[in-house]
Amino acid sequence: MEVIILPTAKQVACYGADVCESLIKTKPAAVLGLATGSTPLALYKELIKYYQQQHISFSQITTFNLDEYVGVSASHSQSYHYYMKTQLFDFIDIDPGNTHIPHGDAVDVQQEAIRYEQLIHEKGGIDLQLLGIGRNGHIGFNEPTSSLNSITRVKALTNATKADNQRFFGLGEYQPTHAITMGIKTIMQARQVLLLATGTNKAQAVKAMIEGPVCAMCPASCLQLHQYATIVLDQQAASEL
Ligand code: GLP
Repeated sequence: MEVIILPTAKQVACYGADVCESLIKTKPAAVLGLATGSTPLALYKELIKYYQQQHISFSQITTFNLDEYVGVSASHSQSYHYYMKTQLFDFIDIDPGNTHIPHGDAVDVQQEAIRYEQLIHEKGGIDLQLLGIGRNGHIGFNEPTSSLNSITRVKALTNATKADNQRFFGLGEYQPTHAITMGIKTIMQARQVLLLATGTNKAQAVKAMIEGPVCAMCPASCLQLHQYATIVLDQQAASEL
């Protein structure tokens, strides 16, 4: 596990975008694993800039997102489908047919999870998986106590995660309690992993991930065992190390 500490969140985003850029330049048909949340937003802005400046093309790229809420349709403004469309896909030359996100509104969500995991393998696996980290150490929606050997499946969200997400859903609006998420094993099978964390509210989780034991109570700690994992932090997220 390589840990890189940079002065600002902006530099973290630029570093992450540069890693994506060099992969796309060396492998134009790469498979990217994408994350949502506020952390990767600035990275996606940088990638859009690189595309507009004609440094990179996404025309042969395939993407797999980490997760999606159960019971939330693709058109819902808080769905990860909507997030990816409005934060990245609408601004680059990616073929929508090559972008994959679990269908949270599938009739049989268990079956959907199995289909999704199989599809990742059929497409040759993930070259580079982007990750953020939850305040409780989750990656994707692999909440504390998730099996370190898990594959894509339906997971219940913890109260802490539901509370963190409450602000995105309107008063009285349906708030998801479950998500379809890649498993920890799915993430660990990516050939390269890049986790970004910024801000003091992530400092405790970052400490547990890097300095704590590898354990299911901090799912991100499994990255200590990955052959090619890079953790990029701003000074605030690194403040407890
Ligand atoms: C959600 C996502 C994670 C993300 C986390 C942190 O739970 N499923 O993939 O890493 O939020 O989000 P943020 O970057 O907004 O702090």
